[in-house]
Amino acid sequence: MKNIVVLVSGSGTNLQRILDTIDQGEIQNAKVTLVVADRECYGLERAKNHQIESILIPRGKNFSSELSKVIPENTDLIVLAGFLSILKPEFCENWQGKIINIHPALLPKFGGKGMWGMNVHHAVIEAGEKESGATVHFVTPEIDEGDIILQKSFIINQGETPETLAARIHEVEYEIFPKAINKVLGN
Ligand code: GAR
Repeated sequence: MKNIVVLVSGSGTNLQRILDTIDQGEIQNAKVTLVVADRECYGLERAKNHQIESILIPRGKNFSSELSKVIPENTDLIVLAGFLSILKPEFCENWQGKIINIHPALLPKFGGKGMWGMNVHHAVIEAGEKESGATVHFVTPEIDEGDIILQKSFIINQGETPETLAARIHEVEYEIFPKAINKVLGN
């Protein structure tokens, strides 16, 4: 059985998808042992509703060192599921190969500092991109630059807005996130 820790900052629909796909057997031999949030958010409620231990560590300069203290030693994978703080380089290096992130765009485009959530979708529309999508990648000290595990794209519709794009990307995320987790776990 592989032990997963999930980090969240927001509504946690990707966390929910991970929990559901574990329950449904789409992700096998794995369990979420802990959910950590860097702010009050609905993701924490989802953990509680699923009887999973959850911890709030307020975001800020001590976040990564506090996080290190609460992550169980037997953790096999740390999953950033809509997590918005930047983790310290030492933390990323300690967990290299065992920490992954989902990003709402086609990396290496539209990644890096400030590129999160709706900011990404606004930037993609403003740039007149023909395609967008989602990427699951390994986390390294360089923001959004780690090796790509899975990516899926689609054509942007005429009249697409940041909001419609966000909704379509969430659907893609729900599809590729469990697959990427299986891949990293060797399932
Ligand atoms: C997701 O679209 C995820 O890709 C994005 O935040 C959203 C969280 O949704 N992550 C980032 O922008 C990280 N740079 P959720 O809370 O419903 O899972």
